[in-house]
Amino acid sequence: MPKTSSAQGRDFLSTGYSPPAEGAKAFFDKSHINFPLGFLDLHSVPEYFWIPAAYRPSSWSVDFSEMASGQLARAEALACSGCRHACHVMLYADTKTQLFGRIPIKHIILMQMRFDGLLGFPGGLVNPSKETLEAGLSRELSEELGVAIPISAENHMESCHAPASSPSSSHLITHFYVKKMEEEQIMEVERAAASTAADHGLEVLGMVRVPLYTMKGGGGLASFLSHSFIGNARSQLVDSLLRFNLVSPKELHKALTHSLKIHTHTAEDLQAALVLTEVKRKQF
Ligand code: GTP
Ligand code: MN
Repeated sequence: MPKTSSAQGRDFLSTGYSPPAEGAKAFFDKSHINFPLGFLDLHSVPEYFWIPAAYRPSSWSVDFSEMASGQLARAEALACSGCRHACHVMLYADTKTQLFGRIPIKHIILMQMRFDGLLGFPGGLVNPSKETLEAGLSRELSEELGVAIPISAENHMESCHAPASSPSSSHLITHFYVKKMEEEQIMEVERAAASTAADHGLEVLGMVRVPLYTMKGGGGLASFLSHSFIGNARSQLVDSLLRFNLVSPKELHKALTHSLKIHTHTAEDLQAALVLTEVKRKQF
């Protein structure tokens, strides 16, 4: 059953959306240009780099939200004939474990290293004419994780348009879900993903946990966020961290700022590796 009432009265169209933590909202309102996702030139923001309306500073006019958010209601998404649909889920659990016996890990969030070298959430393509979005997602999870985790419409966070990968490709709509589990259940998923999952070593190169802490030298969340992600998976992660209070807005801002610095360093590093390869290539 599509949920419609929860979205009423808000300009954020996605169904199943819960209001952001007050702290997060206040933070976004204050951070007009120095947004946690970096210094944004609104014209250069890719279509999939959406920002939920509730987080958008008031100085961002309707134009930007209409143009860049790509958000759409679940019913609207399902009505799109000729569209392909993909569902992905963020599975997470609370934990009391401490890294090195002193750094609280706080939450375990599962992501995966995909076959294409990009980080993303488990899930995949579903066929709404043959199955519900949630049943399709559950089927994908059994292939990728080795366990058919039940997902309900309650877990649905947002649906949005993905950028066209090529002019000829049919339009893709991505649906994002979040499900909280017990720590032991998450550990069972990790074990199954590496042993019984059909996709292990093929479409899925391995499951990874997201480090949510920031270490003295800046390592942790910042380094993780500086990796490459599929589609808008990084935005989905950042949004969920705020929405479910898994990381404070202040910490997230610090991590993202550091992430941008790491990015500059990575570019230099890649440049050096390229120069080295050039030399070797000429030798052989
Ligand atoms: P195949 O069976 O190989 O097609 O894979 P799949 O069914 O598992 O599909 P996949 O998980 O690759 O998802 C389909 C498409 O959704 C991808 O090509 C991406 O464009 C997009 N996608 C994949 N992972 C994510 C994610 O974590 N977030 C978002 N927003 N999009 C994703
Ligand atoms: Mn997949």
